[in-house]
Amino acid sequence: MIEVQDVTFAYPGNSVPALAGINLCVEPGEFLAITGRNGSGKSTLARLLNGLLRPKAGRVLVDGLDTADEASLVDIRRRAGIVFQDPDNQLVAATVEDDVAFGPENLGLPPAVIRQRVAASLAMVEIEALKDRPPHLLSGGQKQRLALAGILAMEPQYLILDEATAMLDPVAREEILGRVLELRRARGLAVILITHLMEEAVLAERMLVLSAGRVVLAGPPPAVMLQGERLAAVGLKVPVTVALGHILRRAGLQLPAGPVTAEELAEALWKLVSQK
Ligand SMILES: Nc1ncnc2c1ncn2[C@@H]1O[C@H](COP(=O)(O)OP(=O)(O)O)[C@@H](O)[C@H]1O
Ligand SMILES: [Mg+2]
Repeated sequence: MIEVQDVTFAYPGNSVPALAGINLCVEPGEFLAITGRNGSGKSTLARLLNGLLRPKAGRVLVDGLDTADEASLVDIRRRAGIVFQDPDNQLVAATVEDDVAFGPENLGLPPAVIRQRVAASLAMVEIEALKDRPPHLLSGGQKQRLALAGILAMEPQYLILDEATAMLDPVAREEILGRVLELRRARGLAVILITHLMEEAVLAERMLVLSAGRVVLAGPPPAVMLQGERLAAVGLKVPVTVALGHILRRAGLQLPAGPVTAEELAEALWKLVSQK
């Protein structure tokens, strides 16, 4: 479990905190989305979750290990891996394959295990064909796949994706997220999806909306989606499928309030039609 307890954080020289009074629990195997407009504090929160930043007040515990405890940081980062929006800061080696091997090598794993993890991770994000290439020559989307492979090879318990597929096209983005969610089902990996795309956030079991460094809404996506005005007030729009549901209800259709994805809306409409 990752526990964020009354956390406040301010960047040096900045009197306004980037995050204030944050409380959050991430259970093993959970799928949580964190959303909010640009500058709301999402990336700061991501960095607090695995000790890249330490709270100014409050505590962050990863499976009971305090991120303020220097001696626990290696263990914490092995458990909670972050993939960032900008992959350039995350790529370190001369070839794609070596880059993915870097993390497992630092864990001191036997070479055979490292080879197996590298191959599995490259396959997961479908960049096996690029394994001998130098990372700096890859496209933005390929670099994002590589950064994800590097973290997956560490076999974390918590995977934090901070706008980590932003450089991919929508089809590839959905495919990669699908792979990650398969891994969640297979291994009980917890997924913390940080995104400003509401269409993505509603796929999670639970979502959290940040605004100006505070949690302004939290709950299962269907419940959060009912708060259209509060979302609009913090610069967010409900996905088009949710908006369409609202319009159809206002027009008199007996649609339930729940559907948030196109599939769910289609299913609700189908039920309605087939009842008649
Ligand atoms: N390295 C930094 N130094 C100073 N201020 C920062 C730094 N990174 C982010 N901030 C500020 O902290 C706030 C939250 O930023 P961030 O966590 O990056 O938000 P988001 O990821 O939601 O866009 C913003 O006001 C931003 O300007
Ligand atoms: Mg960010």
